Amino acid sequence: MTFKLAPSILAADFSRLGDQIRAAENAGADLIHIDVMDGQFVPNITIGPLIVEACRRVTTLPLDVHLMIVNPERYIPDFATAGANNITIHAEATPHIHRALQQIHTHDINAGLTINPLTPLIYFKEALPDIQRALIMSVNPGFGGQSLIPSSLERLRQLRTWRDELNPACDIQVDGGVNASTIRAVLDAGADVVVAGSAVFKGEDISSNIQALRNAANT
Ligand code: DX5
Ligand code: ZN
Repeated sequence: MTFKLAPSILAADFSRLGDQIRAAENAGADLIHIDVMDGQFVPNITIGPLIVEACRRVTTLPLDVHLMIVNPERYIPDFATAGANNITIHAEATPHIHRALQQIHTHDINAGLTINPLTPLIYFKEALPDIQRALIMSVNPGFGGQSLIPSSLERLRQLRTWRDELNPACDIQVDGGVNASTIRAVLDAGADVVVAGSAVFKGEDISSNIQALRNAANT
């Protein structure tokens, strides 16, 4: 099946981040997913623009920045300047979703929208004409290594129907709990872009992990 693989560096070894990103690129990753957490929207604290700028220096792959921060408007310019090619915001993180998406577009980069697992899917119906990426969170955001929430598959299917009707150029992305056992199901349900953290960076070497995901997608 054709899909884009977006390794999430949240699961990488940060003491050798550059090498791990290069290994993922050499093994056929399509974009690099960067999870930004502020300790407020989600319990965890992770990455700032400084690390995005460092990632920009080690890869030519698109940098896909997932902002899990309240009032993302405050930091969109910093992440865009650091080299993000796409910035995805959470609908729950600001009362001014439309304005934040417009703000991302002023930097001539793609804008994405995402919602938490029980947030009504209808946000996408409203936002689809204005976004290039619609992200279904298949875990509660904040941590890597969680299990995929099964109802995410039905959410992917519904989103796919709306996407085909309202904005066929928009990517459907899925994030959380994707591994060799679940990748086929999320692809069958409609995902075009698959985020995987633990399944890429933990365990065996990065190249065989990516190969295992590709194999599982095709069986
Ligand atoms: C969760 C993050 C995910 C996370 C996925 O808040 O948005 O991108 O890194 O990790 P895995 O693939 O291990 O579930
Ligand atoms: Zn993410």
